[in-house]
Amino acid sequence: MKAAMNRKIKKAYPLPKLSSVAEQMPPSGIRLFFDLVLTMDDVISLGVGEPDFNTPWHISQYAIEKIETGFTTYTSNSGLMELREAITDNVRKTYGLSYDPVREILITVGVSEAYDLALRALINPGDEILVHEPCYVSYKPLISLAGGSPRVVSTRKENGFKVLPKDLASNCSRRSKAFVFNYPCNPTGVTYSKKELEALASVIREKNLFVISDEIYHHLSFDHPHISFPILDGFKERCLYLNGFSKGYAMTGWRIGFACGPSPLIALMTKIHQYTMLCASVMGQYAAIEALKNGSEDTVEMKNEYFRRRNYIVKKLNDIGLSCHVPGGAFYVFPEIPACFSSDLEFANQLLKEERVAVVPGSAFGRDCSRHIRISYAYSVDKLKAASERIERFIKRHQG
Ligand SMILES: Cc1ncc(COP(=O)(O)O)c(C=O)c1O
Repeated sequence: MKAAMNRKIKKAYPLPKLSSVAEQMPPSGIRLFFDLVLTMDDVISLGVGEPDFNTPWHISQYAIEKIETGFTTYTSNSGLMELREAITDNVRKTYGLSYDPVREILITVGVSEAYDLALRALINPGDEILVHEPCYVSYKPLISLAGGSPRVVSTRKENGFKVLPKDLASNCSRRSKAFVFNYPCNPTGVTYSKKELEALASVIREKNLFVISDEIYHHLSFDHPHISFPILDGFKERCLYLNGFSKGYAMTGWRIGFACGPSPLIALMTKIHQYTMLCASVMGQYAAIEALKNGSEDTVEMKNEYFRRRNYIVKKLNDIGLSCHVPGGAFYVFPEIPACFSSDLEFANQLLKEERVAVVPGSAFGRDCSRHIRISYAYSVDKLKAASERIERFIKRHQG
């Protein structure tokens, strides 16, 4: 009887045609691959871009105390004033930047939401947004969802995957409105000196672009201090600075990020945010306050450990035939696969099948990346060692 009713309901109410923009969006290459990994045993995964550390305990404890004393409500749409003030202090001390916590800062659900809001607040139909490749998997789909067109600036291994000013300039058209920039970069780990950033800044000024600068890995710059884009001359006004707590403080699940930028843009982003999210989670915001006030030693300890792992894995991969440059930051390497493999997909699938090691095919990060794979070193040295032994065996077998 119930089944017959369900059938009747199904027949009477077919789903309407779903959004063609969403339907045409490719599924994330990372998700597809890791759905497969989840069905297998004894896999060493070097796939996920997530710290393997727990959130430092004092940060969790502070949030627990807040929950215990009844802080479980909505906050202001912009986020707790105490957190916005802590961010103001932090970016002033770190970069000498001065953002007004009332009008120039918005607390979001991770950098993910901040990026999405920025696009929705910036894009009008027909606008083009420049984005470098390889890049973080969400950048292009979210530009399309917001009604814009992504325009790719390719980077190449020969140049250490850096965006070259001439490539940025030659890809601009009259419709180009903004440049999405991420450094240290996921997936290449590339980062930039002040001179290199200034060369890019001069093209950006000349082409009259706005910049969305995703600096979520700013704590993890190994070879020189990170230089934030809005410190460059005139860029506080033409740049939206995005950052968050997921990577530097091992707080991915707390879902807290923030945007600092010109007040008219922040106001528009806040308007969209108030209709969609209302606010970021209050416990996450309290955890973030504690992270900023008392978490700097934790980030340094984690950074030192990632540095040790970077040096280990880069040497090891180059020794076993996966050629890669030394990434300046973040926790990824982006090696080239040996010539005997036809593609990144073949390499990753066979490696998973034969040796039970999961890495992400490079094509998840861009159209010209099918000779690369991404390896995350947010894993212990023991795990990295065991995985690289398996990879070495795999490569030797295929090279015959
Ligand atoms: C470059 C980049 N931006 C943003 C994010 C998402 O960060 P959040 O956890 O703050 O949403 C990631 C996550 O991997 C990332 O690599």
